[in-house]
Amino acid sequence: MHSLDSLPTAATGVIGVFDSGIGGLSILQALRQALPGQRLLYLADSAYAPYGERGAYFVQQRSLQIADFLQQRQMLQALVVACNTATTAAITHLRQAWPLLPIVGVEPAIKPAAQASTSGHIAVLATRGTLQSQRFAQLVQCHAQALQVQVHAVACDGLAAAIEASTQPDHQHTAAPAQSVQALCAQFVQAAHAHQGAQGPLEGQIDQWVLGCTHYIFAMPYWRQLLAPEVGIWDTGAAVARQTRRILGLGQGELPELSDMGQGAPQSVQLLTTGSLPALQAAAQRWLQLPPEVCQAVTLPMPQKT
Ligand code: DGL
Repeated sequence: MHSLDSLPTAATGVIGVFDSGIGGLSILQALRQALPGQRLLYLADSAYAPYGERGAYFVQQRSLQIADFLQQRQMLQALVVACNTATTAAITHLRQAWPLLPIVGVEPAIKPAAQASTSGHIAVLATRGTLQSQRFAQLVQCHAQALQVQVHAVACDGLAAAIEASTQPDHQHTAAPAQSVQALCAQFVQAAHAHQGAQGPLEGQIDQWVLGCTHYIFAMPYWRQLLAPEVGIWDTGAAVARQTRRILGLGQGELPELSDMGQGAPQSVQLLTTGSLPALQAAAQRWLQLPPEVCQAVTLPMPQKT
């Protein structure tokens, strides 16, 4: 267990944020909008992405290591786990290790999706790690089964990795990637439609789609092309930002939409990556309109087993 003599305040501490890679930038953007005066320190663990197809133990150990690394680098006033897979595998362990540090996680938006569903069928697109976790089973039980909504979960193997690869600056010039983001999205939408309902396959019956991985929002144009215009598509960026404001005692209030990308205070954001610096710079520029100077590469190898 780590103890802090006194918690850093908004004036002295930063809000640490991490993900297996660039997916958590979608959460970071919501935090920028909700907490304009705060300092944000983001770590993309791209050298070890994707987390979703690794075991829970690996993700736990890596999350603890990253929390420690961020804490050593700058005093944290809060930590946001901007990754569904890491939240399900590690948030309990993180809270045990840092009992005084406010820690906010990300979980698939099953509750609002189930409440909004009129057909009684929702789909959850997430990593294998998230879907296999006990926390996910509890979410389904608490928020969907109680409303008699059926959850059709699809493990989107390879999608986070394809989204990571698509941000490599030389991506356009390399030989065609094994599977494009667009083709994978189509495959997973089809897999959800192929689930069986009382009257056979569910084509057209799923009216709410939950993006249960922070990477997937960056494929939004494809989801919109593939899904009927009237269906709901849920992500958790704004909810996580609201929860972070609450936990820091900064009030609640309405947040701007995530689609208003590009607003915020670039000087208060620092981005680190364990992987490719040009890839992070490209993603930060493309999705958050942040300049390359705010990005930096760091080395954070897994400790050798003794
Ligand atoms: N972005 C992460 C999530 O929300 C994990 C993706 C991955 O690394 O597999 O689950």
